[in-house]
Amino acid sequence: MANEACPPAHLCYNSHKCSDSAIVEESSFDSNYRTITQIMSDRIVSPSVKQEELALDLSLRPKKLAEYIGQDKVKENLKILLEAAQARHEAVDHILLYGPPGLGKTTLANIIANEMNAAIKITSGPSIERPGDLAAIVTNLRAGDILFIDEVHRLNRAVEEILYPAMEDFALDLITGKGPSARSIRLKLPRFTVVGATTRFAMLSAPLRDRFGAVYRLDYYDLDAMQTIVARSAHILGAEIEAQAVMEIAQRSRGTPRVANRLLKRVRDYAQVRADGTITAEVAHQALALMEVDDLGLDEIDRKVLRTIIEKFGGGPVGLDTIAASISEEADTIMDVYEPYLLQLGFLDRTPRGRTATRHAYEHLGIQPPERNEQKRLL
Ligand code: ADE
Repeated sequence: MANEACPPAHLCYNSHKCSDSAIVEESSFDSNYRTITQIMSDRIVSPSVKQEELALDLSLRPKKLAEYIGQDKVKENLKILLEAAQARHEAVDHILLYGPPGLGKTTLANIIANEMNAAIKITSGPSIERPGDLAAIVTNLRAGDILFIDEVHRLNRAVEEILYPAMEDFALDLITGKGPSARSIRLKLPRFTVVGATTRFAMLSAPLRDRFGAVYRLDYYDLDAMQTIVARSAHILGAEIEAQAVMEIAQRSRGTPRVANRLLKRVRDYAQVRADGTITAEVAHQALALMEVDDLGLDEIDRKVLRTIIEKFGGGPVGLDTIAASISEEADTIMDVYEPYLLQLGFLDRTPRGRTATRHAYEHLGIQPPERNEQKRLL
């Protein structure tokens, strides 16, 4: 938000209103981002956090590395990184976390801050619109603070340019004045840590990527980890749940803790209203059937994407834009929201000529796959 008493916001380096808008809570980004998050939020299996479940999400999030389940390799590496920095009394190296949405990038950033006894500022690529926005944020950091930048691949070029020296030399290069009287001044910054998060690693510029000392990829959680997460969350919520019901929920949660927590909450409601409150396997099964989440966690839209490729385009290959037009959806939304899990399940293939539905996708939908020769001919 611009302050009338200030120069244009991109030139305003005062740490007040002109830049406050860049410090956001999760999921309040720009309008395009909002469209995608909105679409994601409407789905029961959405990996993004819904506004009304922020409190629940927060209460179930692990606060320390020792409570964090799964992602064992990332956890191990992170533990060493943090312990080494602590022993040297230094700020930890800049860290980049990437992978599909909902897997715990924000949770890990908060854990890093907790483990380092540091404050955390949360912002996002699209909400830092001008260099001045970033300048206001970094000049307010103290030594050791964590600056979490979600969707870091969406930083614009001008902002990236001032982030480079801020990350590398802990310095801010500012231009003051205009025309012939313009002067460049270098401001020293305290040593802080950027934790960047992205779902699109390939879209990060090489210079930005190179400034992260540690880069970790988060993967979908395996079934064991998902079961432990569901059981832990049920315990925190005080819900009585059978082991088989834990399994039912874990299996349909798309390897994503946030989805598991949401399903658990809905199943708990169902158990309370339609049964005696205990989440038995039968109760979980009925509740999940009512939500139309199938046994692999696919919902109606996932099935629509697959059916479109199979029924309208003979199984593919078909271009992303064509699929998008067929189901009246944005190509970016399909790529960010629907595809990652379908690829993970092995239901979709990305080929140079477009997307193809695999034999597994046909089988899951109960559709007869074409003969191998026929599929080869199509490819
Ligand atoms: N809740 C959400 N993500 C979690 C995780 N990775 N471990 C434990 N609880 C979680």
